[in-house]
This record gives sequence, structure tokens and C-alpha cells, in this order.
Amino acid sequence: MSSETRVISSRSGLRSAYSALPTGARRAVVLTMGALHDGHVHLVREARARVGVDGHVTVTVFVNPTQFAAGEDLDRYPRSLEDDVALCAREGADLVFTPSVETVYRDANPTVTVDPGPLGTLLEGAVRPGHFRGVLTVVHKMFSLTGASLALFGEKDYQQLVLIRRMVRDLDLAVEVVGVPTMRADDGLALSSRNAYLSDADRRLALVVPRALVIGAETAREGGSARGVVSAVQTYLDDHDEIVTDYAVVTDPDLGAPPEVGEARLLLAVRVGPVRLLDNARLSLRSPA
Ligand code: PAF
Repeated sequence: MSSETRVISSRSGLRSAYSALPTGARRAVVLTMGALHDGHVHLVREARARVGVDGHVTVTVFVNPTQFAAGEDLDRYPRSLEDDVALCAREGADLVFTPSVETVYRDANPTVTVDPGPLGTLLEGAVRPGHFRGVLTVVHKMFSLTGASLALFGEKDYQQLVLIRRMVRDLDLAVEVVGVPTMRADDGLALSSRNAYLSDADRRLALVVPRALVIGAETAREGGSARGVVSAVQTYLDDHDEIVTDYAVVTDPDLGAPPEVGEARLLLAVRVGPVRLLDNARLSLRSPA
């Protein structure tokens, strides 16, 4: 919309920026924790394509403490605000919102939070109790603060995407949620801010994750059932002693029990050195289990 990207960190600054917009301008938001990469570029471009030149694109950069458990990587999470702002400006975002923790949470941990329900206790929720309560609470806050009618999220964090969609539906939020396919490096590794933690050796080892997804997709294509897909993937992962698999599961697209035939999702979480890598792929199941 504007030729200049504004960087705002206060609630009042945000309010006055939005109040100056022409009525009817469509507002999109891309929520991030910073350390932006090409996956985020893709989200910003998609946001612009959807709201058009007259629309408005906000990128939020906020490392949300309430989604990290004690002992997780909150303190060392990569932070690169200057580069992030430069990337947003290059991609033509209109506004970068970089609030402090005090601005978002008003000096206290929230006592009213968004309960992610049973889906929030599975998979990532089982490994990281409380994580999705923190995610949904901050996403809800950012939707309210930005007043966006369109929000874009990467499919890499697939459970997060499903839960955000669920929150929007169950709480009747007036936001359209768009899932954007995962961006990958040339060798197939899904882009993630946490890839910065991988040593060169671990970066090479990390390729077992996209390869496991390919094995899963091929097994499904050849007529394997959900159980057959999990078994092929698990056998491949088990051949690599250097990694630890937290889970390898096939679900339906909403994270329920997998169908016998039709669209499904393969979700993986694997620990490589100090890094947990999440990835997933769409499957088309063709034969009864
Ligand atoms: O996916 C992320 O980067 C975060 O979980 C999000 C959605 C920005 C909330 O802090």
C-alpha cells in the first residue's frame, strides 16, 4: 500500500497507523517470531497477492515467551530484528509490529488464555505441554491488535495451523486463515528459523526428515495403508541411530484418525543433535487398512 515500511512497537502506534488507512482496505497479517527466512518471504508475498496493492500487510515479530516451557530455547531463540525489517521492506510489507513482552502481556502473565482443547495435548502438545495454549493466546491477541481479516501461516507447523483454524471456527473470529505450503531448501529440508542451530554434520543428517516423507508418500502411492506408511517411515528412521524420533503418525487432514482411503497427513518430529525438526506431507491413501 505505502512505499515505506513502518516499524511500530506500541499499541497506540498501531492504532493510529490503522486509523489512517482508507476504509475498506483489506488487512492481512503474517505472524512470526522473527529470524525471517524464505518461508516468511513466501507468506508476505502471498499476503500481498491476496490483499492487492490497495490492501495492507502487517508482519508481526514477537518471540512469545508463553509458548516456551522452562528449559526450552527462549533465551537463545535467534533474533535478527534489523535484518527482519530489511526483508519486510524489500518485500513491500506496509508495517512491522515489534512489541515488547510488556506491551503484549501488560506486565503480567495472562490469567485468561485460549484453551486448545484435546487436539492441543497430542503430538507437539504431548512433547511440549502448554505450548499450544501459549501459541493460541498470542495469535488471538495479535488478531485483535492488528484487526486483520486475513492471516497466513506456513504448513510446516501443521498442528499449529489446524489449531488456529479450529480456534477461529470455535470462537467465531472474523479472520480468514490461509495455510501456505512449506518452503524447502534445494535438498528438501523444510526452512525453519531453528535450522540455524544445526551444525554442518547435523544439517546433513537432517535430510532423513524430508527423505522419510518421500518414503511415506511413495508407500501411500503404491497402495500402502496408513499403518503401512507409518511402518515404512519408522523402519527408515530407525536405521539412523544418530536421530531420535518423537513421533511419526498418519492422521486425517484435521489430525483425527486416518481415513482408509482419501486425503491424509503424515507428521514427523525428529531430534537431530540439539534441534527438534518438524515436518509433514499430504498423502493420498488408496487402499483399505
Ligand atoms: O509459528 C510461529 O512462529 C509462532 O508459533 C507464532 C504463530 C508466530 C506465534 O508466536
